[in-house]
Amino acid sequence: MIHTALTETLGIAHPICSAGMARVAQAELAVAVSNAGGMGCLGGASFMPDALRDQIAQIKKGTDKPFAVNLLLPDALTTEDDRQWAPVRELWDSLSGQERTKLAGIQALLTPGAVADQVQIVLDAAPAAVVLTFATPDWFIRECKERGIKVFALVGSMGKAREASAAGVDFIVAQGTEAGGHTGYASTMTLVPAVVDEVDQPVLAAGGIADGRGLAAALALGATGVWVGTRFIASPEAYGHAAFKQRVLDGTFKDTTITFSYSGKRMRAFANQWTSEWEASEAQTSGFPGQYAVAGGRVEAGYQDGDLDHGMMPAGQTIQLVHEIVPAGQIVEQMAAQADAILRQITPQA
Ligand SMILES: Cc1cc2nc3c(=O)[nH]c(=O)nc-3n(C[C@H](O)[C@H](O)[C@H](O)COP(=O)(O)O)c2cc1C
Repeated sequence: MIHTALTETLGIAHPICSAGMARVAQAELAVAVSNAGGMGCLGGASFMPDALRDQIAQIKKGTDKPFAVNLLLPDALTTEDDRQWAPVRELWDSLSGQERTKLAGIQALLTPGAVADQVQIVLDAAPAAVVLTFATPDWFIRECKERGIKVFALVGSMGKAREASAAGVDFIVAQGTEAGGHTGYASTMTLVPAVVDEVDQPVLAAGGIADGRGLAAALALGATGVWVGTRFIASPEAYGHAAFKQRVLDGTFKDTTITFSYSGKRMRAFANQWTSEWEASEAQTSGFPGQYAVAGGRVEAGYQDGDLDHGMMPAGQTIQLVHEIVPAGQIVEQMAAQADAILRQITPQA
């Protein structure tokens, strides 16, 4: 068993967390990971408030172990200034009814007030941890501390790591550019030790980790645990069409690209017709979060319909390493056992 500050603080068996992947990481996946001794994370950002409440209730029914919820709380999403929402509303109004039915997972980010409601639901539910991406507002961290909720910040740069550290989060997740989803420029191999040197908080490694070798390497870089996304897409508990999961199994290093077409922010996703047409078009990004309205319908095209050419499907470089669908609990157990064996082998006991 590998003990770290992460396992001690949260009271979990293994220093392994599943990432809060919007749409993909629903209650079933979070429950499986937490029950296996890791910390499962609900991709909370994609749920409208009632659905979020329901998902958290499902997790609580499925496990009494610690779990986390991911939220996105940049000012652009929490502002009550109605004028700032005008461009988003304009885009939303321009969508056809059919397009809107495909917006599951994006609607909460395009609906004024929805993110504020998500916040209240999560604070009331008091999960063991909340994982924040993009921003770490003081007011929210204060509320979490009052309730004993640990705050993790997912960062992809030194600037964001410093900002999160100064804001007083409990853990920093340093995510390298190999990762699926929104991502920065530095590799995990370089970002993790740089962040470890920079901040006082324990640091988790994210991006490019798919097995026990990745976990052992992350610990050697000074990380207290790992934050894993893409590997868990290829589990029965992850939400997503079989064709999307198969794409992960078949994928190679050449199959992902960096695109701004999803949210207006830099992200790694499967390269396909949609990403290359967007790149080739004169289209300028509508910025964050407005670009979500442009790309929103693409999300369920991939996840729900399995349309690999036109779907927007974040995925990381570990698609090269993932070859089979494995139950999420087994992914956790195998990763922990393999890392343990490697660490014993390279550090013979006296
Ligand atoms: C399909 C997918 C969806 C993601 N959605 C989110 C999200 O909603 N919020 C978030 O903080 N990170 C999201 N991420 C990034 C993950 O949190 C995590 O940092 C990343 O997957 C780790 O790298 P890996 O994919 O190499 O394991 C997503 C990643 C993937 C692959």
